[in-house]
Amino acid sequence: MDWGMKNRMAQLIQADGHCLFLPVDHGYFQGPTKKLEEPRKTIEPLLPYADALFITRGVLRSSVDPDKSKPIILRVSGGTSMVGKDLANEGITTSMEEAIRLNVAAVGLSIFVGTDYERESLLNLAKLVDEGEKYGIPVMAVTAVGRELEKRDARFLALSSRIAAELGARVVKTYWCEDFERVIGGCPVPVAMAGGPQVATELEVFAFVYDGMQKGAIGVNLGRNIWQNDFPVAMIRAIRAIIHENASPKEAQELYESLKSGGVTG
Ligand code: 5RP
Repeated sequence: MDWGMKNRMAQLIQADGHCLFLPVDHGYFQGPTKKLEEPRKTIEPLLPYADALFITRGVLRSSVDPDKSKPIILRVSGGTSMVGKDLANEGITTSMEEAIRLNVAAVGLSIFVGTDYERESLLNLAKLVDEGEKYGIPVMAVTAVGRELEKRDARFLALSSRIAAELGARVVKTYWCEDFERVIGGCPVPVAMAGGPQVATELEVFAFVYDGMQKGAIGVNLGRNIWQNDFPVAMIRAIRAIIHENASPKEAQELYESLKSGGVTG
């Protein structure tokens, strides 16, 4: 691995081998997502606790100060919307030249395995990897499920994650699921977990993050379950404790409750 690639990977994956990526890219197909209507307000209080931000160029330029930033994973796929025909029909939206201009640590793109646009999205990934490798920029592949949340099982996620790794992704972002060890076992590159829509309790989030870490995930790329929480700073700090301090779900819950009652808002 060349110096630039190594340096960027080290910006993303911390010295303990773990990572907490904060995705705020949802608007690229969802519009003003709940609690992300004004991205700057959502991002600023959480930024000190994130290892990297997953974000589009538009929100990066408009809502993150260049002198107070964190490593950037630039979302470079899109072109579809919640109200359009097919979420899977994404293309590459941002050039590698632009990624370099923005001094990013990585680029990220979704793949849509099992859809009508499987081939296009996989070839987009392969093309992005070719470009990224040329300039020492790692690619994070996102194993998307579109509206079909029920697809989030070990068989599908293991298949998608492995394909992403085979095509050259340096990091794979996928969902946690039951039998998550099957996903990790079949994927020869680091795996970060997404959360999906907000779940009923904080403890459920702590439990799946902890389980995934025990099974070999390097960390999370977790958005809505952090910033849609009523106490997002308490939430990100509790998740950070699991990822970087090996806290148990119970310890994370206690930390969350104490920060919440201590008046940590944000
Ligand atoms: C949506 C994404 C997000 O980065 C990913 O889904 C993680 O966010 P969340 O934890 O909210 O699911 O790719 O475009």
